[in-house]
Amino acid sequence: MNPGADRRPRVVLGVGAGIAAYKSCEVLRGLTESGHRVRVVPTPAALNFVGAATFEALSGQPVRTEVFDDVPDVAHVRIGQTADLVLVTPATADLLARAAAGRADDLLTATLLTARCPVLMVPAMHTEMWEHPATQANVATLRERGTVVAEPASGRLTGPDTGKGRLPDPAEIVELARLLLVRATALPRDLASRRVVVSAGGTREPVDPVRFLGNRSSGRQGYALARVAAHRGADVTLVAAHTADLADPAGARVVRVESAEELRKAVHAEAASADVVVMAAAVADFRPAEQAMSKIKKTGGEPTPLRLAANPDILAELVAARRDGQVLVGFAAETGDASGDVLHHGRAKLVHKGCDLLVVNAVGDGRAFGTEDNAGWLLAANGSETELPRGPKALLASAVWDAVTPLLGS
Ligand code: C5P
Repeated sequence: MNPGADRRPRVVLGVGAGIAAYKSCEVLRGLTESGHRVRVVPTPAALNFVGAATFEALSGQPVRTEVFDDVPDVAHVRIGQTADLVLVTPATADLLARAAAGRADDLLTATLLTARCPVLMVPAMHTEMWEHPATQANVATLRERGTVVAEPASGRLTGPDTGKGRLPDPAEIVELARLLLVRATALPRDLASRRVVVSAGGTREPVDPVRFLGNRSSGRQGYALARVAAHRGADVTLVAAHTADLADPAGARVVRVESAEELRKAVHAEAASADVVVMAAAVADFRPAEQAMSKIKKTGGEPTPLRLAANPDILAELVAARRDGQVLVGFAAETGDASGDVLHHGRAKLVHKGCDLLVVNAVGDGRAFGTEDNAGWLLAANGSETELPRGPKALLASAVWDAVTPLLGS
């Protein structure tokens, strides 16, 4: 194929010399499978962890590490100049230091100096190295210059220790990369020092010890909101009801719940000190009025009808208990009907709920639930209405945070 005819977004995948380098293969797969052209540029030492042949086979492109490779092609300049995104994963403490100092002692750091596209660096290292003032100063320098330095996850590190410094899940890294490709300015650090609570997923209302009433929410939109907030600097608590198999967002504290009542308790406890609460969870409106203590048996006759009781509206309770300056965001999944379209119902719900912002999604026909993409409208209490074009759920999340930040007090 004529290379000029290849319209796939070009990603340079820089790989630092940390044990998490092996996870860059999964990031590479995620990017190529979602239609990106990826050129892998490892540091020379990264090849101690993953061989060049692996990267070449997975990317279909040659792998070079030194500025003296491919000299006639001037690769140390051209690779950065022609990229749409440079993604570095894992970014080790040494690589962050060399990038912050503007060194160009290998092909990857030279590429970082010539790139004019968004740059996303995903750190992974031991907690002590991450917390060291030198590393923190390097991260601050890079962020000041516009590089997006992702928040590390917490959890198991190499060896017996656990703590902050773990590489985020590869799917999360792909999600962030795709977000920056569609919107270069999607991850400013404008939520630093803000405490954010996001609820996500669908509640399960127990019928008996083995059965429940549930719904189709995958939790993806709520997880995307939590992820984007964490990478924008917020202190994030994610209250997660039942979801699809999703990795914990890096940098967020996850509180797991099952029923609407458990979600209610957890959200109220967290909301007491939060600057923002986003209710993205699909909370059941009704629960079985009685929960059987043992499994309900087939008797052969007519089954006993299930009596339902209404669940309290948590968002309405949050509005009633709102702290000064606290921003409250609701979600509304709507289908149009004879009395009005989706937007009409959304406007009425914003007034009825009394929250500051309401994201209105059109659902049904395979839209919104469980899908990777989302679309809708963002309605604000001040009357503004913004259409949210179809795109990845992280893109919708970034539009929500853009609307939240001006509402936050100083
Ligand atoms: O009224 P509706 O269920 O459409 O409202 C949806 C919004 O209200 C969502 O933000 C959802 O998280 C929240 N909600 C709630 N408590 C309920 C039902 C919905 O907080 N019992």
